[in-house]
Amino acid sequence: MTRQVVFSPSGRRGAFPEGTTVLDAARALGVDLDSVCGGRGICGRCQVVMGSRPGVEARPDRLSEPGPTETDYQGRRPLGAGHRLGCAARIVEDVVIDVPADSQVHRQVVRKRAGVAALPVDPVVRLHYVEVPEPDLASPTGDLERLLAALEQEWGLSRLVVDPPVLTDLQTTLRSGNWAVTVAVRHARDLIGIWPGFRDVALGVAFDVGSTTIAGHLCDLLTGSVLATSGVMNPQIGFGEDLMSRVSYVMMNDDGATRLTDVVRGALDDLLGELITEAGVDRGDVLELSVVGNPIMHHLLLGLDPRELGTAPFALVTTSALDTPAIDLGLQVHRGARVYSLPCIAGHVGADAAGVVLSEGPHRGERLQLLVDVGTNAELVLGNQDRLLAASSPTGPAFEGAQISSGQRAAPGAIERVRVDRATLEPRFSVIGQELWSDEPGFDFGAVTGVCGSGIIEAIAELHLAGVIDTDGVIRQPANPSSRVVASDRTFSYVLCAEPLVEVTQNDVRAVQLAKAALHAGARLLMDHYGVDQVDEIRLAGAFGSHIDPKYAMVLGMIPDCDLDRVSAAGNAAGVGAMMALLSGVARSEIEEVTNQIEKVETAVEPRFQEHFVAALAIPHKTNPYPLLSKVVDMPPRPEPGERRRRHPR
Ligand code: FES
Repeated sequence: MTRQVVFSPSGRRGAFPEGTTVLDAARALGVDLDSVCGGRGICGRCQVVMGSRPGVEARPDRLSEPGPTETDYQGRRPLGAGHRLGCAARIVEDVVIDVPADSQVHRQVVRKRAGVAALPVDPVVRLHYVEVPEPDLASPTGDLERLLAALEQEWGLSRLVVDPPVLTDLQTTLRSGNWAVTVAVRHARDLIGIWPGFRDVALGVAFDVGSTTIAGHLCDLLTGSVLATSGVMNPQIGFGEDLMSRVSYVMMNDDGATRLTDVVRGALDDLLGELITEAGVDRGDVLELSVVGNPIMHHLLLGLDPRELGTAPFALVTTSALDTPAIDLGLQVHRGARVYSLPCIAGHVGADAAGVVLSEGPHRGERLQLLVDVGTNAELVLGNQDRLLAASSPTGPAFEGAQISSGQRAAPGAIERVRVDRATLEPRFSVIGQELWSDEPGFDFGAVTGVCGSGIIEAIAELHLAGVIDTDGVIRQPANPSSRVVASDRTFSYVLCAEPLVEVTQNDVRAVQLAKAALHAGARLLMDHYGVDQVDEIRLAGAFGSHIDPKYAMVLGMIPDCDLDRVSAAGNAAGVGAMMALLSGVARSEIEEVTNQIEKVETAVEPRFQEHFVAALAIPHKTNPYPLLSKVVDMPPRPEPGERRRRHPR
């Protein structure tokens, strides 16, 4: 007798002989129901619950009584209340079967962190448990051939390419597992690992390799959960603070590239060790890795020559996504593990920008998004589902605290937040590593060491709002002279902190003007190409993007005028993109396809870039009065045309 089965949420349905297991019915209908053990009641990944629909109410006797496989089940994934093992429960009446998200091979894992969409989980590495017939004198075949035949028969895996180390281990593993083994198969194509008996541990690591810091996320490939997150400084800093100085190092030293490659690979392996220790797992459990980074970091990590990236036309060795054996990058993980590097977009828009695009998904919606990843080179992406454009802007290192008289990297002791009293022009500020503001009792002035990128941006923006810095970026002594504004040669400086002395000098303002004008001009150029004067949303990616206050970024005119509510930090979007690529083959296909379609705009050869740059030197902008910002921020009056020159004493 046959029984009707309907699966939800897929809606797939069919008729099966009474006694068919739920897992077999699901497989026959192509329902997304997970299994590692192949229906042997070991893995617990096939759990289902009974559903209902009109005429077919949920009733336990629609499935067979739980037998010993379920009552004695003690797998790693506990059997939830009302849950049945799909491989053990048999259909005895018409039934509706719900497949919970946790039991789907392709599922969405919702991250609690705001702004991050559900992460798809469908890893490219899958584990398969299989029992292999013992050798037989009557039919002499190799152990490998019998393993491959069993995998084809049970899992439909054919034409597998076997990694050499698997072959080396094969015979001892089969025998120690008593002819039952678990294999790891990548992309349903490469047999990369083998273990005796049943195993359901498969881990992955996503790396975001920045020029200053490297972040790593250790994830469970089966569940999508993040087991540990950590970061280290990029030791390449010892060879040059910014990217171009590292390329120069490579150009000037025969072994330069090798040395930079060696130190970054060493740092990744050290970071791996930290993650492994924190999560209490083994290096050998790591079967897959992913990596994002700007083009120079990307090339140096992979051992590719970055010298062409130092000069126009900034040719990459390749823009394609790559799979590299982890062992070739000096990473001590499972011997079969591969490192997937996301595609690069253009010579100065790297795999990190691809990670941001994957994470933020401008191509998935109608809203016109501007993604800004600020660094020595700002990477910019503008677009929506219709069209995506990308460019980079040579912002230089001012936003990272370099070229600033009291500048420093964002580290303990750096002034990061600044407020200036509009009446007295007295400042108050906070520094990294102290809870208190400088005007609160107990603040430790001795711990102040300088000002970082976000601090100098806030200082200049606040001084502009307070009338100390004019639209042209000139520091002026106000009508009521302030002891904070001091003459320095033929210009003025503003004393942010008297002891130790931290000033905002005229040269500091100029350096920030140049950097912010480059950033603005790049964004404006993309808007020209898209044919718009305004964007719907601006997302500031990266560590710096998370630290700067969108209001001050806009007061300075770093970014185009926009509804302030629609300007926000995207957090570690590149790292999230790396994680998405780690956990999902679909995400990899998506970003590879999107990257191919992104239109690249080369700022260096666009005459309008220079025009936009000059107009953007003013604060916030020479011709754009920032009407949207002016609705929420009390902007200083703009000089009338012709007035500006008269107000310049010099
Ligand atoms: S498939 Fe593994 S327990 Fe059911």
